[in-house]
Amino acid sequence: MRTVINASGGAYPVITGHGLLKELPALAGVCRGNTKAAVFTDDNVAPLYLDTLLSALPEGTLHYVVPHGEKSKNWALAGELLEKLAGDGFCRDDTVIALGGGVVGDLAGFVASVYMRGVPYVQAPTTLLAAIDSSVGGKTAVDLKAGKNLAGRIYPPRAVVCDLDTLSTLPKAEWKCGIGEALKYAVLTGGEIFDIMEKGLDESNTERLVDLAVDYKRRIVEADENEGGIRRLLNLGHTVGHAIEAESAMGFPHGVCVAMGIKVIARASVKAGFLPKEDYLRISALLQKYGFSDCPYSLASVMEHTVHDKKIADGKLNAVVIRGIGNCDILPMTADELKGFLS
Ligand SMILES: NC(=O)c1ccc[n+]([C@@H]2O[C@H](COP(=O)([O-])OP(=O)(O)OC[C@H]3O[C@@H](n4cnc5c(N)ncnc54)[C@H](O)[C@@H]3O)[C@@H](O)[C@H]2O)c1
Ligand SMILES: [Zn+2]
Repeated sequence: MRTVINASGGAYPVITGHGLLKELPALAGVCRGNTKAAVFTDDNVAPLYLDTLLSALPEGTLHYVVPHGEKSKNWALAGELLEKLAGDGFCRDDTVIALGGGVVGDLAGFVASVYMRGVPYVQAPTTLLAAIDSSVGGKTAVDLKAGKNLAGRIYPPRAVVCDLDTLSTLPKAEWKCGIGEALKYAVLTGGEIFDIMEKGLDESNTERLVDLAVDYKRRIVEADENEGGIRRLLNLGHTVGHAIEAESAMGFPHGVCVAMGIKVIARASVKAGFLPKEDYLRISALLQKYGFSDCPYSLASVMEHTVHDKKIADGKLNAVVIRGIGNCDILPMTADELKGFLS
């Protein structure tokens, strides 16, 4: 499937399908004329897919393999990669290719966004989370000591090429992280995404789920690329989720914390009278179906972290509350109001 996203800097396609890695250079239009590419990937993905991609690119194509995991999304490594690009003669019209999950995508996208004031880049997501979420919408970032994603830009890619075959090697725990974000879309949109997740995500419907999620994200980012309004809906489960992530000292992965965050918000929404009990029970059952447990921390300890959330503006957080399946709303709240809402 081909979905075109109309971003501020121009339109770009998100192409999903099978066996696409080998076709990526042609699909994304890289290495045309005298231009080169540089592939960024991590040390888990490299042994699985780097050769396939490199075999479709000109001989001698630059490639950089970073250690896997969130720790690689750092300023120092971004600097090293920028120096490498410069040292290797990477030019303004050359293209960065991010082959991997959200970590590689965010890091490579960030590097591409600042190298020579911005060079083109292509996202080649290899995790469920990256396929349905991080590869689309142009958010790039590295983490700072003070918090996740604190240095970054909105810098849309030239293309996203998602080879669904790569998902076959994804470890179970990583699959579960993607499901956490998929459940976010299920609650936000209701409809077919919710039905797929209720029925059970498997090989037969993963492609459909990815396409539906990409299309929903397209509608959101086309309306609000810079997250001044409705893009904030995509933070459903995230304000609390990020706080749980921080409280666990990154012991719980992101997608798992998002799922816990959705449960906390669903419970608060039903208590506040926003969410019909029937919808609450379906959301809870869905979270349980995929093995997500309740947040194990006290509200007080989790709330401690929300005051550091980078999304606080004028002393208010934009909490995403649930009014029904497929009907969420953004409510600005002070930290105290949020505490009251959650307790
Ligand atoms: N830019 C955005 O809009 C956005 C949105 C959501 C999340 N994110 C970011 O995405 C990151 C999380 O992304 P993620 O969950 O993809 O994590 P990740 O990139 O760390 O990948 C998860 C793990 O799976 C491995 N892996 C990747 N693909 C594989 C494959 N096909 N087979 C086997 N192993 C594979 C990786 O090496 C890694 O160990 C976070 O840093 C988060 O902040 C960004
Ligand atoms: Zn997320």
